[in-house]
Amino acid sequence: MFPTYIIIVAAGSGTRFGADIPKQFLPLAGKPVVMRAIERLQSARPEAEIILVISESEQPRWEELCREQDFKSPMIVFGGATRWESVKNGLEAIPTDANPNSIVLIHDGARPLVDSNTVSRVCAATLNTDGAIPAVEVTDSLRRLDEDGYASEPVDRSEYRAVQTPQGFKLWRLRQAYSLPYDASFTDDASVLAEAGFTNICLVKGSPDNIKITHPRDIAIAEAILDFTTE
Ligand code: C5P
Repeated sequence: MFPTYIIIVAAGSGTRFGADIPKQFLPLAGKPVVMRAIERLQSARPEAEIILVISESEQPRWEELCREQDFKSPMIVFGGATRWESVKNGLEAIPTDANPNSIVLIHDGARPLVDSNTVSRVCAATLNTDGAIPAVEVTDSLRRLDEDGYASEPVDRSEYRAVQTPQGFKLWRLRQAYSLPYDASFTDDASVLAEAGFTNICLVKGSPDNIKITHPRDIAIAEAILDFTTE
């Protein structure tokens, strides 16, 4: 198995969430959201080197949370104004002489319920493709808006998937893709890779439990999922 690095991006300000504290630091059943994500990934890949990306202004809060929880922080890197910049900073923390075929997983710190089966599927599919991303079927009916954003038409939801993290790529491809200039159309790491011509991206089965904490009610939903799962 190639060495694995895991970059957890947790440098967002969480404006959509609307709390005073960025959502990744809020308690989820007594433990900060991002700490749960770190623990899940450590248990899925104990040999991996984890790089945690937070904003510089949140470092004192993170250190305080680690003290409170008696938690050993992984290596910390400071993030940037966009997720793209935060991933790029995380990537630069990987030693320059690391094996270029190392697997790098990139995970949203706001997804605390990632499970080891999803991580295994992503890692396995990363080996012989340009990259692997977990995805789930869309359960709602979907409509496409026209240009004025008012009229709409139904679309076939079986043609769409909702994309999650961790997304997995070989280190050399990621480095090449993240050396290109930023483009506002980047929605995730797979879209950055595609810009560099790496389009053989494999979709693997994700998990409906691997939700991204986005709105305050998502904390309650995640706590309910925790009560029902054994991971
Ligand atoms: O905003 P959104 O929830 O889509 O962000 C996804 C992940 O990217 C979050 O974990 C967030 O903390 C992280 N992020 C970041 N740096 C930014 C913006 C978002 O690390 N500048």
